[in-house]
Amino acid sequence: MNGSSEGPVALPWPLFGLRLGTAQLELRPARESDCLALAARVPDDLELDPGATRYAVDEPLNRRAAILQGWWRALGTWTPDEWILSFAVVHDGGLVGSQTLEGPGFRSTRTVDTASWLVPDARGRGWGTQARAAVLALAFGALGAEAAVTSAWRDNHASLGVSRSLGYADNGVQLHPRGDSRDEMVHLRMSRSVWTSRARPAVTIEGFEACRPYFGL
Ligand SMILES: CC(C)(COP(=O)(O)OP(=O)(O)OC[C@H]1O[C@@H](n2cnc3c(N)ncnc32)[C@H](O)[C@@H]1OP(=O)(O)O)[C@@H](O)C(=O)NCCC(=O)NCCS
Repeated sequence: MNGSSEGPVALPWPLFGLRLGTAQLELRPARESDCLALAARVPDDLELDPGATRYAVDEPLNRRAAILQGWWRALGTWTPDEWILSFAVVHDGGLVGSQTLEGPGFRSTRTVDTASWLVPDARGRGWGTQARAAVLALAFGALGAEAAVTSAWRDNHASLGVSRSLGYADNGVQLHPRGDSRDEMVHLRMSRSVWTSRARPAVTIEGFEACRPYFGL
């Protein structure tokens, strides 16, 4: 049974059909197999949510479980007002990292947040910037965002470098607990007018129309 007499069956989760393309990367919403493969490669320097559940297992396993639960939670709790879209970042057919786009209260705030990581040997080639630019093209384009925000520890020069090279401006600092002490979290913001004021590298977006209702658009 494939429903052929009624035409093709619509994907019940059309977000899995979304594709973003940059010069060197493809971004696809992470499916179960991507999540398992990416969790196995999550880098040691990625700081996880200190509130993640702790299990009585080795730290690497605990980190992987936390990453997986984050992805599952995001899919299971998705609403048009509160969504987190995690993309698998692919280069030349191989998984190289994760790029997340979040819309907390998106229909009223029209503001997106981002987070990302790349495996160590994929860094320093401009791919972090390409992956961020890809989700910003979706946000400021099809989704109609008015602003993008992001945050990084003051000493995360690569993450801050991605943000600054794309045109984000400082938006304040806050002290947050870090390990046994505290440290400065740097907040950055880019308005729609700044995004559109510069020529941006081409990003292809496929499969968005079927996703529109899932963003409440
Ligand atoms: C953050 C991360 C995704 C950036 O990806 P990347 O591919 O290494 O970054 P890019 O090559 O696109 O570099 C972006 C900019 O930052 C600069 N930069 C990159 N690494 C840097 C470093 N270690 N120190 C100083 N500047 C750096 C680059 O020169 C570039 O600036 P430019 O465009 O003005 O030349 C990646 O480094 C990573 O996975 N880090 C670990 C996880 C993490 O911290 N994620 C962010 C959590 S908030």
